[in-house]
Amino acid sequence: MLKVGIIGATAYTSLELIKILLRHPEVKITYLGVRRTGRPKISDIFPALKGLLDMPCETIEQKEMPGNIDLAFITLPPTISMQYVPLFIQKGIKVIDFSADYRFRDKSLYEKWYKAQHTDSKGIETAVYGLPELFRNETRKTNLVGNPGCYTTATILALAPLLMKGLVHSEDIIVDAKSGISGRGREPKEDTHYCECNENIEAYSVGGHRHSPEIEHILSIKTNQKVSIQFVPHLIPMNRGILCTVYAKPKGGVNGRSSLHDDEVHKLYREFYGKEPFVRLKEGNEMPRTKDVIYTNFCDIATKVTENRIIILSVIDNLIKGASGQAVQNMNVMCGFDEKMGLL
Ligand SMILES: NC(=O)c1ccc[n+]([C@@H]2O[C@H](COP(=O)([O-])OP(=O)(O)OC[C@H]3O[C@@H](n4cnc5c(N)ncnc54)[C@H](OP(=O)(O)O)[C@@H]3O)[C@@H](O)[C@H]2O)c1
Repeated sequence: MLKVGIIGATAYTSLELIKILLRHPEVKITYLGVRRTGRPKISDIFPALKGLLDMPCETIEQKEMPGNIDLAFITLPPTISMQYVPLFIQKGIKVIDFSADYRFRDKSLYEKWYKAQHTDSKGIETAVYGLPELFRNETRKTNLVGNPGCYTTATILALAPLLMKGLVHSEDIIVDAKSGISGRGREPKEDTHYCECNENIEAYSVGGHRHSPEIEHILSIKTNQKVSIQFVPHLIPMNRGILCTVYAKPKGGVNGRSSLHDDEVHKLYREFYGKEPFVRLKEGNEMPRTKDVIYTNFCDIATKVTENRIIILSVIDNLIKGASGQAVQNMNVMCGFDEKMGLL
């Protein structure tokens, strides 16, 4: 049995992670770390876990991180994670970090967007971006995964086939994204207060959301070209789920009109994702719905060619394929388990 620990066990993503790990036949949760003191039981923090996991949570102290686990999931906020990740890596323990601290290969880009000095240069240089559909081989060989962001997962999966084939202009892409409120975390903020977000839809961080450089950075690395996007996220009054509508401009064609047809684009996506266990493609005019993917690790994708754009729509559960399910998928890849274990 693989012994795993969760550092930041009170997070929303940790609750989902625990639920998945309890179903996983090869894993035992042996350590839960939290900021608070008093060794609270995890089932007192999350009553949904009563009778399923009643173990106490330890207070996280940088000097006293456990050495007797095989893999640590770090579910702390960006800039805090990097204070803990090296403590495990030094002990030979595999790490999957949920924050943005290990998602960038370029330290200066991280520092610009997260307004903090990165204190683990070696880690950021060697970490693998944990999107198995694009970086599976690298993930198999690494001890440190930077688990992708939620909007980024949905957007990158939507765009990768077209960009990798060079069929669309890489610097003329619009991403209109909508997320349920759990995407903003458990810690209350003014815009996640019930009265503020209920019966409301609102854009935020327009032109300045931190997932925008992550999407551009990863797609640029993967496709060997400069990728540049206009990204506008919105908060919508749902607990969970993300819908990304991506508008890409096809290359070639007459007067900017697409020379591609729906069938050809469908075929491209079928070839690209045909063997992927967690990407499902819509056919014809069927559109993806968050309802069909919440509580699952699936990303559902549809494509539609219009006169001068290719529109790609993708949906995920931000807490599962956008965080904890993807982390377990990465763990399965890193540890040589069946990639679907615990997830289907
Ligand atoms: N929510 C999503 O959909 C989503 C998707 C992808 C990735 N992520 C990433 O996953 C991580 C967890 O996200 P979340 O939404 O689950 O977070 P969350 O519910 O807001 O919880 C944050 C966690 O971090 C702990 N924490 C905050 N500041 C800390 C500090 N200074 N020292 C130690 N612990 C601290 C909190 O402890 P307390 O309970 O003591 O406050 C809590 O356990 C973040 O890095 C986030 O960016 C989230």
